[in-house]
This record gives sequence, C-alpha cells and structure tokens, in this order.
Amino acid sequence: MSAPHLEAARPTTPGTELGTPATETPPGTAAPGTGTPHVVGRVDDVPPGEGRAFVAGDVQVAVFRLRDGSLHATQAACPHAGGPLADGQTDVDVLVCPLHLFAYRWADGAATSGAAPVRVYPVREEDGLLVVSV
Ligand code: FES
Repeated sequence: MSAPHLEAARPTTPGTELGTPATETPPGTAAPGTGTPHVVGRVDDVPPGEGRAFVAGDVQVAVFRLRDGSLHATQAACPHAGGPLADGQTDVDVLVCPLHLFAYRWADGAATSGAAPVRVYPVREEDGLLVVSV
C-alpha cells in the first residue's frame, strides 16, 4: 500500500446546515483496502468514547475512538437529514445520530431502522496518527 497522503489536521464543525440532506458522499460502505489514505489528525485528537470531524482529502468524515480502543470512521453528515454524526452516541456495535436517533452499524453502515445507510471508511492508527481512506 502506498504511504498516506500527509496533510495538516483540519478538524471541522459539521452540521452547521442542519436539515440539509448530506450530499458529500453517497451512502454505502467503502470496500476494505480501497480509497486513498489521508492523515487527518492525531489519535489523541479524539478522546476515548467520542467522535470528531475531520477532512480527508475533500471528504468530511467523522472519526470515533471507542472505549475499547477501536477506531471507526463514517461520513460526517447523517444521511437522514444532515445531523452531525461526530456528536453521536456510540457503543461497540452502533453509532446513534444526535438529531433523530437513527442507529447505524459500524460493521457495514446499515441503519437498524432500514433507512439509508451511512458510508463507513477504513481508518487506522499509524505512529499515533489517524489515517482514513476515502
Ligand atoms: S439527521 Fe435524522 S437521524 Fe440523523
């Protein structure tokens, strides 16, 4: 695999246009190992049990660091109505959007309600850095 594309961490504040459907990426799941890797910030930028929004290339993403140490990444805006997913609640199985409480599975981005899925991205730690492939 090629070296990650290095860029300055640019945390963002998604959801400033609440009520606007997400259009940055189509819903669905990125295939493992696909996409261009981007360093979006440091692992320590995301406190355990929380999420933060970043930009990977030209894609807004939400990166989560669960209390078990696992990392997950999704599109930043909820596919339902643009809610700020980085502010959502998490457990080991799902992410819950803070606006209308739709739950999305980490495994494949599917909504437990049957609504449109959220796009999930491969994310890994590399020397303390967060690398998201989009
Ligand atoms: S914006 Fe409605 S569930 Fe996320």
